[in-house]
Amino acid sequence: MDEHIPVLVEEALQGLGLGADATRETRDGFFVDATFGRGGHSARILAALGPAGRLLAIDRDPQAVEAGRRRFGEEPRFVVVHAAFGALESLVEAHRGGRPCRGILFDLGVSSAQLDQAERGFSFGKDGPLDMRMDPTRGTSAAQWLATARLDEIRDVIARLGEERFAARVARAIVEARESAPLTRTAELARIVAGAVRTREPGKHPATRTFQAIRMHVNDELGEISRALVAAVPALAPGGRLVAISFHSLEDRLVKQFLQRESSPDPALASLPMLPPGAEPRLALVGRKQRPTEAEVAANPRARSATLRVAERRAVEAGT
Ligand SMILES: C[S@@+](CC[C@H](N)C(=O)[O-])C[C@H]1O[C@@H](n2cnc3c(N)ncnc32)[C@H](O)[C@@H]1O
Repeated sequence: MDEHIPVLVEEALQGLGLGADATRETRDGFFVDATFGRGGHSARILAALGPAGRLLAIDRDPQAVEAGRRRFGEEPRFVVVHAAFGALESLVEAHRGGRPCRGILFDLGVSSAQLDQAERGFSFGKDGPLDMRMDPTRGTSAAQWLATARLDEIRDVIARLGEERFAARVARAIVEARESAPLTRTAELARIVAGAVRTREPGKHPATRTFQAIRMHVNDELGEISRALVAAVPALAPGGRLVAISFHSLEDRLVKQFLQRESSPDPALASLPMLPPGAEPRLALVGRKQRPTEAEVAANPRARSATLRVAERRAVEAGT
């Protein structure tokens, strides 16, 4: 129940510069695992770090943080904090202790531990309270949001974040249902959505898209990613690596567009024969996007939709 098989681990380690050929300087650097989960990636980072290396792990889920303290509480090179990675800038400043930051990892989305527990309310397959917050100690639950949101808001979220073409029908069905009684259970929502979605995508529950959309909205997932990416670039030391693993197209598009923008010169300056000092892009892309092998997908079906991207902080003038 508390299991989570890490995805693209070797590729992530290599991307962070912590592969077998890692230098001593890198191994003794400061790293961030912005999405601790159950620590699959953190365990491998710690194994690759040198004695002076440090790992800051972050998770907004109190259960993940507790699991981190249980698993690595005795490890002097490790600290785990309960926070949302949108606050990356202040978290890195508070924990780096003057060390250069050599790598930041994002393994986005929800963990198997979250999906598997009916009481967290993420799953359409297991009946539970309609919650869906990664951090149940704050914010608005899915039930609270669905009880108060306007019809057009619900429709827009489901269309945009779920890319659900029956969003209007689903939103109407939700609003009609809540007029008789508040929606409080995942099974109830899954049934209402299934009744409104006309076609069946092979191998997909008809409520998959709507659940994804509501979860992303309740947790402001895209906003968090945008804030964290913006903060990650200046946090990295020259040569430091940014590694992001995404699980669906909306996340990956955000990461891809950000990395492309940060690794290209400002289009307004593109016609100049030479870029002025400080106008060089701050990142360089490292390799192409990576996808799991067939063997990994066979062993861990959750890896199926994963895409990993890596970029490196370039050495540019101070203050840029
Ligand atoms: C896919 S899991 C990570 C699994 C982890 N790499 C492992 O191997 O166990 C994603 C984790 O990131 C956390 N998370 C997602 N968005 C977050 C955010 N904005 N801030 C902090 N943690 C977040 C979730 O709570 C979840 O535990």
